[in-house]
Amino acid sequence: MQANLVKEEISREKGRDCLAMGGLDPCTIVIFGASGDLTARKLIPALYHMFLSGSLPEPVSVVGCARTMFSSDDFRSLMHQACASHGKADMAGWPEFAALLFYRQVAYDSEKSFRELAAYLDELDRQRGTRGNLVFDLALPPTLYPVVAEMLGRAGLAAQHSDNRGWSRIVVEKPFGRDLDSSRELDRVLHEHFQEEQIFRIDHYLAKETVQNILMFRFANTIFEPIWNRGFIDCVGIMAAEKLGVENRAGYYEQAGVIRDMFQNHMLQLLSLIAMEPPSHFESEQVRDEKVKLFCSIRPFSRGQGEVVLGQYGPGLLDGQEVMGYRQEPGVGARSLIPTFALMHFYVENWRWQGVPFCLVSGKRLAGKQTRIIIQFKEVPHSIFRDVLGEEVVPNRLVLGIYPEEGISLTFQTKNPGARVCLRPMTMDFRYDTGSVLDAYEKVLLDCILGDHLLFWRQDSIEQTWKILTPILNECEQCQGRAQQLHLYPAGSWGPEAARAQVDRIRDRKEVRNAP
Ligand code: BG6
Repeated sequence: MQANLVKEEISREKGRDCLAMGGLDPCTIVIFGASGDLTARKLIPALYHMFLSGSLPEPVSVVGCARTMFSSDDFRSLMHQACASHGKADMAGWPEFAALLFYRQVAYDSEKSFRELAAYLDELDRQRGTRGNLVFDLALPPTLYPVVAEMLGRAGLAAQHSDNRGWSRIVVEKPFGRDLDSSRELDRVLHEHFQEEQIFRIDHYLAKETVQNILMFRFANTIFEPIWNRGFIDCVGIMAAEKLGVENRAGYYEQAGVIRDMFQNHMLQLLSLIAMEPPSHFESEQVRDEKVKLFCSIRPFSRGQGEVVLGQYGPGLLDGQEVMGYRQEPGVGARSLIPTFALMHFYVENWRWQGVPFCLVSGKRLAGKQTRIIIQFKEVPHSIFRDVLGEEVVPNRLVLGIYPEEGISLTFQTKNPGARVCLRPMTMDFRYDTGSVLDAYEKVLLDCILGDHLLFWRQDSIEQTWKILTPILNECEQCQGRAQQLHLYPAGSWGPEAARAQVDRIRDRKEVRNAP
């Protein structure tokens, strides 16, 4: 007993250690797009929280850059408002944090402006002792990625370890192109000035605690891996349902739609973590090698094979409030055919997963925000209870909850207490305590400063996922009867009827008797 308590204490201590990260190189973090939404909503609140928790390097400077004419003080007070309203609002530490913030106006397409920026950063670096290390975070519309990457290169800011320079890293967010060709073109431009090791392609899903936990769960336990295959698993569901609509992002979303917005990145990353083979070391290149192998094993499919259902939200009731349909949202065309919902079945062609459907569903303005992965196991091969009780034995199910419940639950059959013999499904729940840990943006910024690529996309995986999705996108966007094939669903529902019917069809095909 005593020994167990001591062990628990040690693991609690270790847990505390996991929150902090020492040995970070001093650096300057340059945020392009500093007057925009992402900076105010995510990046500065993340940096401020890191500052409060002592997880920023020392020394560090944060330089906001945008076209808008601001002084550093203007920028500080805007960011103060943003953190007070969006951030984890203990503002007592703000004055000290504000002293690390600076602002510099730039013209994104002007080499002269970037050369001036380079001189400014050199001077700031000398004053603050950040050893020439630079992170460039592009919180910008993707059309500006190539422009800014080019200007950074021309101004000598992509160069590493020469003159007074330390390392130089560039951070880009999805979308990584809008199809295979454009993703290759973006990569070509980035690589004109930056080496692959300098490029960090963010997917904020990968930095979520529960998503990171998937590999620990699979490969730090012995009991799951032997049954993690077609012999025991009937199907896998990956769901990212959102209550939010398109918000103020119509300009972007009208070009993207749900497949580019959610599937090419977050949804396929979740699939890869569930389905990949174990790497021999938990190290970024090995993990990313396994992911790309998995993407290469996904069976190409076409819309005609009935694997894809697309939908768009119409007006409806959400939490008792009337909400408008997608086509009525500001900035959206009255006849827009952009899907806000998709359901797709993927199959992985290898020995482990042959024949197991992976059903990926994501949509906006659905009845609830739920992100989870459901591993549905097979039925018992023969039920000794069926004749006696006339009851079906509900198969086991493992749910990896990402939102709102962060945790893992396993459902299994037990005997219902009492004289009559009957079965009762019980759920064993593990709740993840994420009270004080880093949020996704904090984690990616930290890993970028550390130079650790594990939670970032590598270009070969991006290309492979576009290889799978580009033909489907072309088919969906160029097909006859495109309007008829887009199923409208009322906001506040769980998506179009056709999606349910598609799930049933796959289930019937597999003769699965019990609903997942
Ligand atoms: C973003 C998408 O990448 O992810 C958004 O562009 C979406 O459209 C968001 O709402 C969902 O992220 P989360 O973390 O809220 O599930």
